[in-house]
Amino acid sequence: MKPVTVCVIPGDDAAPEVVRPTVEVLRALAPDIRFVEAISGREAQALHGDPFPAQTREAIDAADCTLFGASGGPSRPVLWYLRWGKQTAVNIRPVRWYPGYQSPMAHPERIDYVIVRENLEGMYPPREGALSELSALASSSSWWQPPVEGQQGTYAVRVCTDEQSQRVADAACQLALKRKEAGYPGRVTLGAKYSILPKTDGRFREIVRETVARYPELQYQEFLVDDLARRLIAVPETLDVVVLNNEHGDILADAASGTIGGLGLAPSACYGDSYAYFEPVHGSAPDLAGKNVINPTAMLLSGAMLLERYGYARQAEVLRAALAQIYQEGRVLTVDQGGSASTTDFVEAVQLALAQLTV
Ligand code: NAD
Ligand code: IPM
Ligand code: MN
Repeated sequence: MKPVTVCVIPGDDAAPEVVRPTVEVLRALAPDIRFVEAISGREAQALHGDPFPAQTREAIDAADCTLFGASGGPSRPVLWYLRWGKQTAVNIRPVRWYPGYQSPMAHPERIDYVIVRENLEGMYPPREGALSELSALASSSSWWQPPVEGQQGTYAVRVCTDEQSQRVADAACQLALKRKEAGYPGRVTLGAKYSILPKTDGRFREIVRETVARYPELQYQEFLVDDLARRLIAVPETLDVVVLNNEHGDILADAASGTIGGLGLAPSACYGDSYAYFEPVHGSAPDLAGKNVINPTAMLLSGAMLLERYGYARQAEVLRAALAQIYQEGRVLTVDQGGSASTTDFVEAVQLALAQLTV
């Protein structure tokens, strides 16, 4: 079998502090994976006069997938390329509490679901402009629409294609089926603003609804996304696979991470037909850069998703078990989890737990 090649892009601010140790952990678990590091952002600007040089794009293209830290601005073109250039259409963001995670919830043990976020359209990438360009709206303005004609201001466009909605709906159903085999209820929940945006979110709802209906073994429920936000907090145990458009998925994934104990614990993976990339839900945490305090758990769990995707399911389980053990014991916790361990201390604890689990 051809070895898997992973392009590694550390990204900006504190992100490299979680990416590089994650690569070391993954190397130890799966020595036949090839990791090829490529630079971006300020480092690439200094070296090649470009934050996203051709060499980095070629390294992404030559690999099977990319492990990405986060963009704090300078590496934004990389993020753009990984999503739109590589058409990574579906963003999977698991939300799962492990014993020991410092959750603010009374019953965090009930939290174990997956957000399936549409990754390529909606309001992103930006398509914005001046109100004066919007002749269609201007001519239809009435008492219930904002007075556009003659106003200074701006607008943004939200896109919802049938093709991409179908891809996301199929991915959600496939995931719900797979989880059902593992004992989950097999329930797809859609959250959207179909009441107010019938042509975009309403169309998204229609496609998700029709797709789930083709799977008699799956349950389906739908809520307006504002109510769904409440449900993430009030009744998370009713959720299994949650389908959201791009911006709702963006916002609610961060909110959901808050229920399990924070952004330091939330992994993600973006899948397309021919490419995938793995990154934490969090950003580049500029406030933590250079301090050796950022929690690497989200990045490590994203690494576990990578392992699972490329045929290393057993190694992925071992990595998750090592993390579970550390949190269960509660001896080595980073600052965001109420402890005083550094990033390095935490990674050493992971390596030690892995050594014990794999002997
Ligand atoms: P952020 O996720 O970087 O940080 C939000 C808060 O969470 C900060 O207080 C930070 O210290 C904390 N935090 C984040 N990750 C943590 C971790 N692993 N361990 C402990 N604490 C952690 O979001 P932000 O501050 O709003 O954005 C910073 C930059 O990151 C912005 O430029 C933003 O656009 C970018 N961003 C990039 C991505 C991405 O590349 N996919 C995702 C989100 C944000
Ligand atoms: C994320 C981030 C990105 C997004 C930004 C940096 C474009 O917040 O990955 O969640 O909105 O998708
Ligand atoms: Mn986000």
